[in-house]
Amino acid sequence: PHDAAPHTPLPKAELHLHIEGTLEPELAFALAERNGIDLPYATPEELRSAYAFSDLQSFLDLYYRLTAVLQTEQDFADLAEAYLERAAAQGVRHAEIFFDPQAHTARGVDIGTVIRGLTSALDTSRERHGVSTGLILSFLRDLSAEDALRTLADAAPYLDRISAVGLDSAEVGHPPAKFTEVYAEAKRLGLRLVAHAGEEGPPSYITEALDLLGVERIDHGIRCLEDEALVARLVAEQIPLTVCPFSNVRLRCVDRLEEHPLPAMLAAGLLVTVNSDDPSYFGGYVEDNYRGLRTALGLTDDQLRLLARNSFKASFLDEDRRAELL
Ligand code: ADE
Ligand code: ZN
Repeated sequence: PHDAAPHTPLPKAELHLHIEGTLEPELAFALAERNGIDLPYATPEELRSAYAFSDLQSFLDLYYRLTAVLQTEQDFADLAEAYLERAAAQGVRHAEIFFDPQAHTARGVDIGTVIRGLTSALDTSRERHGVSTGLILSFLRDLSAEDALRTLADAAPYLDRISAVGLDSAEVGHPPAKFTEVYAEAKRLGLRLVAHAGEEGPPSYITEALDLLGVERIDHGIRCLEDEALVARLVAEQIPLTVCPFSNVRLRCVDRLEEHPLPAMLAAGLLVTVNSDDPSYFGGYVEDNYRGLRTALGLTDDQLRLLARNSFKASFLDEDRRAELL
């Protein structure tokens, strides 16, 4: 019998989401006006039409340029609130949210402004939207290890609000090894550890992130499939991979959604999750990614339920909330 169930989004966790990547063109224009900033686009539609990328760097250039509109605590609060409202509508019950402090401190915006603004929205998210949250402080890997250490020190007053550190930005040429000391320090401070690896970069970066940084989760990780021994290890250790299908297509890591390796990753027994990465830029939020997989790759309801279950399993949720959601 036909019912509404197929259109009800599965309850899920989102574990790979850059808050700066949720900046919709309309909000970018509103914040630009509020802050007296001129955008080099006439309308939100014109800006949206610039969202066509040839690789990771071409996306990052626009992503960093648009952070200029984020100036005050209220701006960061508005950005996070807009995401959480959308996330709830997409079935998200828990979100572990990346932010890139160096993209803001490099422009003269204090890290406290960023964190206080974001947390003011996150603090009421559970009661307002039914979405529990975590914050992941992500280092820009194309900057130095010293810059990352300084950022970690600047975050000291706010560490009780941060659950983990991550590593993002331009991957190729910036292997995890560069951040060994930074990750040792983050671990000493009691933070959990994740890193982007194997998005554009080679499988060896995934191995380095595990062995040198000690990460518990790999962001993207799709290129692990090029190394059979690495896949066997990721399966044996059940290391979660936060895969972002729409992102991989828009950044040309994968030619078409129909050719995405996610089904092969599931078949190999990898602990795969599905996430949206930078949804404003990549054509959809997390439930849109789940639906895309069903349409383009024929994923079954059972497979989609497994992906949703994996998302809670791979999260940093405490046991009580995890048990409630699983
Ligand atoms: N920063 C925001 N999104 C990113 C991605 N997909 N890869 C690396 N750095 C990022
Ligand atoms: Zn990412």
